[in-house]
Amino acid sequence: MRISEAKIAEVAGAADIVHVISGYVTLKKAGKDYRGVCPFHGDTDPSFYVSPQKGIFKCFGCGAGGRVFHFIMKMENVSFVESVRMLAARYGVPFRLEEGRGRPPDERDRLVRALNSAQSYFTQNLKRNSAAGEYLTNRGVPDEWIDRIGFGFAPDSWEGMADHLRSVGVDHRDATLAGLIKSRASGGHYDVFRSRITVPITDLNSAIVAFGGRILGPGEPKYLNSPESPVFQKKNTLYGLDGARDSIRREGFIVVVEGYFDQISLMIGGVENTVAPLGTALGAHQVRLMKRFSENVITVFDGDEAGLRAVKRSIPVFIAQGIEPRCVILKEDKDPDEAVRRLGGDGFRDLLDAAESMVDFLLGSIQAQYDLGTLSGRNLALEECLPVLREIADSKERDYLIERFSSRIRVREERLRRVLSAGKHKRRDDGPKPVGAMSLFDLPADERNVVRGMLLREGFIDRVLEAGVIKDIDHAVLRTLAEMMAGFRRDHGVFDSMSFFDSLHDQDLAALVAGWLHPKREEDDLRPDVEPDVDGDLTLDESMDRIRGRKLIRRKEEIQERMKRCPPEGEEFGSLCRELLAIGKRLGK
Ligand code: UTP
Ligand code: MN
Repeated sequence: MRISEAKIAEVAGAADIVHVISGYVTLKKAGKDYRGVCPFHGDTDPSFYVSPQKGIFKCFGCGAGGRVFHFIMKMENVSFVESVRMLAARYGVPFRLEEGRGRPPDERDRLVRALNSAQSYFTQNLKRNSAAGEYLTNRGVPDEWIDRIGFGFAPDSWEGMADHLRSVGVDHRDATLAGLIKSRASGGHYDVFRSRITVPITDLNSAIVAFGGRILGPGEPKYLNSPESPVFQKKNTLYGLDGARDSIRREGFIVVVEGYFDQISLMIGGVENTVAPLGTALGAHQVRLMKRFSENVITVFDGDEAGLRAVKRSIPVFIAQGIEPRCVILKEDKDPDEAVRRLGGDGFRDLLDAAESMVDFLLGSIQAQYDLGTLSGRNLALEECLPVLREIADSKERDYLIERFSSRIRVREERLRRVLSAGKHKRRDDGPKPVGAMSLFDLPADERNVVRGMLLREGFIDRVLEAGVIKDIDHAVLRTLAEMMAGFRRDHGVFDSMSFFDSLHDQDLAALVAGWLHPKREEDDLRPDVEPDVDGDLTLDESMDRIRGRKLIRRKEEIQERMKRCPPEGEEFGSLCRELLAIGKRLGK
């Protein structure tokens, strides 16, 4: 661990959990707790709880939960250490990685440093290359915006970047991992970006995490993007979001466009609340990311056939996150870049003012396409809606949407529902429950009792350690948690559940522990065995005995099997016999 517990405790003390979470979620007081709509899954019910007394959050819908650090990890998509660092900065706690002195900087820091060095290489080269400058001028980028956007140029060179990074002391492994250079089969390295205008792709804190590179003029591929890396995942990134966030909050809505240049031209045109995905269709993670800033989204689509396809694909992605998106379909311009350069920012804003519901747009275009006065027309229209309806069949808006589709395409609701449930045979299997969402009832009772006892009942952990029962716990998650607590107890000489909780870097385990500290009401009757004012020791001791007993019985069966197969006069048989007797004695007592 790289941060001292004292520092973690100091940050936890300063960063009031209700205050921190209120920055992202609207919370309402509910008894001792606060409640709100969970920001981590598409929900409209307030199943998200924050307990200021216990200093934890827990969602009963998706299972997310933990201390304030775990909230920031999940929300800002950062590591544990980063979450402590961010909260320390926000709440004015002096912070440095104490134990980090003399240690090498972590991977993220190294990659961001490599990317920053690359950025200065690109920007210097842009100043030297007049063709690149002219290209930007021709595309309507004013000089003062070149710096703001961070435009650069990768010259037509195979080793310029590799040489530059070496000269500033960036390790070639970091540069490779960051996607800036590639290694040659024959040894040495070559540049990934060559002869391209570059734009930096940044995270929410404006750290450069990747680059996009556009070819000057015609050629393939038109855009080259950095590969995914430990600091860059496309699905979690929206181009331009860090620069757009303030404007989004001010304007109260987000504009989504398709391309880098669309986003850039809109910024320049003064429509600053604009973001773009990175060459892939918008996904659930990106919509969740947007939702943190606004639930009011307008997507701008090109007016061709591809636009309608994109509308159909987008609707379920938004609806699944509880957002009903609006859209603008461009008719006179090829893309938003062209539109804003023709109309100016104010003209473009008029288009946004006239944005319509995406669902209505889809229904309208279906209505225009088929003759709904005839049975066959209605059937065709139904066919066309089905894929969208299927995708949203599990969402909260389902009923409302079915009603709307039904009245617009003139197919009775019952019929729609029937068709939908008939197609439901291949329901998606969600796989095993995530650890954080496991209810107490999902866990084997005795093992659950003992591990919860270790966490919640003062002093019980020592009895468990003494009895050496942890290795006998079968449930992998419970055993891991017990081992971690035991490790904490060994390292610190004492065990304090809150400090342990704060040291948990694993979000799933944190969510599980949060659920134990703040159980659902229907799980409350599972509590007496760990409530201090009830005589629960007997139950806990019994649970330990049963765990050990089960283990012994299994071992006994194993031995009996083995004995059947080895010669009775051999050495192994003898030792198995002795073990069996010992087990018999222990089970008998
Ligand atoms: P477009 O071709 O619509 O991009 O692709 P654009 O921004 O309008 O391009 P120009 O510069 O004005 O001609 C949309 C997005 O798809 C991704 C990029 O993110 C681009 O902005 N893309 C496109 C790629 O990743 N690679 C490509 O070869 C093309
Ligand atoms: Mn374009």
